[in-house]
Amino acid sequence: MGQGILSRIAAAVGTPTFVYDLAAIRRQFQGLDSALGAVPHRICYSVKANSNLAVLHFLRTLGASADIVSGGELARVLRAGFAPGDVVFSGVGKTLQEIESAIGAGVGLINLESGAELDLVADTAARLGRVASVGMRINPDVTTKTHPYTQTGGKGMKFGIPLDEVSEVACRAADRKSVVLRSVGMHVGSQITDPSPYREGARKLEAVVEQLRAAGINSLQSVDVGGGLGISYNDDPGPRPEDFAAAVQGLAKTTGLRLLTEPGRFLVGNAGTLLARVLYRKRSGGRDIVVVDAGMNDLLRPSLYGAHHDIRVLEPGAPADDSAAVDVVGPLCESGDFLGLDRRLPGAGVGALLEIRGAGAYAFSMSSQYNSRPRAAEVVVEGGRYAVARTRETIEDLFRGEASEPAWSTT
Ligand SMILES: Cc1ncc(COP(=O)(O)O)c(C=O)c1O
Repeated sequence: MGQGILSRIAAAVGTPTFVYDLAAIRRQFQGLDSALGAVPHRICYSVKANSNLAVLHFLRTLGASADIVSGGELARVLRAGFAPGDVVFSGVGKTLQEIESAIGAGVGLINLESGAELDLVADTAARLGRVASVGMRINPDVTTKTHPYTQTGGKGMKFGIPLDEVSEVACRAADRKSVVLRSVGMHVGSQITDPSPYREGARKLEAVVEQLRAAGINSLQSVDVGGGLGISYNDDPGPRPEDFAAAVQGLAKTTGLRLLTEPGRFLVGNAGTLLARVLYRKRSGGRDIVVVDAGMNDLLRPSLYGAHHDIRVLEPGAPADDSAAVDVVGPLCESGDFLGLDRRLPGAGVGALLEIRGAGAYAFSMSSQYNSRPRAAEVVVEGGRYAVARTRETIEDLFRGEASEPAWSTT
C-alpha cells in the first residue's frame, strides 16, 4: 500500500489502526486457486487468521469457503454471507452448544478430533433429526520446522485422532445413521515454508483413505490437507503456492477425492499493516527506545512467538539521533511488550508515523483489551479508496457486561 493512502488513513482514523489491502488478498487467493487448478479443490479460508466481516465478505466474493473453530466464527461467516454448506467446522474442543448450532445451521463438514466427539455429534444430530456430514482430522505424526507453538501434527499433541485409532472411529461413524463420513484430513502446523511436511502428511492420508476403503467405507468425498502455508515477513520471497500444490495434488489424483485446504495466513498475512505513532524516545542502558502507541495487546506475535515484522517510517517525526539501532516498544506494562528490537529506523522521532508490516493475520484477531486499552480500528483499502471496516473501540466498550456493584446470587 502506498504511503499516501496510509498517511490519509492515519490522519482521518487515528492510530493504532490495521489496514487491509483487498487487492493483495485477491492476488493471494487467485495465486493459490490457480496453483491447485489441476484438481477439484476448495479453498476454505481459516477465519481465525483475520475474522473481520469485510475481509470475510470479500473472500466469499472471490469464491472462498470457510474454515471455522467456534460458534462465534460460525456466526461471523453466516453474517458475511457464506452458505452453511461451504463451512468446515474444525477445532479440538467444540461444545455441545456449538455442535448444535453447527448441525442446526447445516454446516458442510464437522471435522472430528476424537471418538468422544463422534459420539456427541452423532447423538446430537440424531436428537435434532438430522444427518451430519463429518470428517476425521487425523494426527499424522508429522512435525514441522516451525515455532513449537505453531506445530500441530506431532504425536502426543492435543490435535487430531491418533493414526492407530482412525479405523475404529471411522467404523463407528459408519455404524451411526445420524452421521456420514465425508472427509479425512490433517492440519500439521502454521507458517510452514518447506513443502515436505505436506508431502509426508499427504502420503499418510492416502494410506488412511486406502485403509478405510478396504474396510468398506466408501462415503468419502474429500481429503483436507489443512492450512499452514507460510509467508515471508521480510523482503525474501515467500513459499510458492505451486510447491504446496505439487506436494498435495497427487493425493487428490490417486484417491479421486476433492482437495480441501484451509489457508489463513497465506491469504491475508501480507495484506495487512499496522499503523502506529511514536509517542516518546528515550535512552536507557545504552539502548535507544522508541515508544509507540501500539503494543502487544494489538499485535501479540512478537511477544508470543518472537516473530519478526518489518517496520518502516512513513512520516518522519521530530529530529532525533538516528545513528544507532532502536527498540520499538509498546506502552503496556510488560517487558515483553515490543514490536521490533534492534532496528535501523531513521526518522522515527516523536510524532513519526510507522507501519508494522505483515499484520493481516493473527494480529487483530489475537488482540485484547489488556491494560484496559480499547482495541484498534480496522480499515480496508481498494483502488485508492478506503473504508473503516471496524471502528476503534471506545472507553465505554471496555465496560460491556460489567457492573461495579455486583448483583449477588441468592441461590
Ligand atoms: C485446523 C486449522 N486449519 C487451518 C489453520 C490455518 O493456519 P494458517 O493460518 O497457518 O494457514 C489453522 C491454524 O491454526 C488450524 O488450526
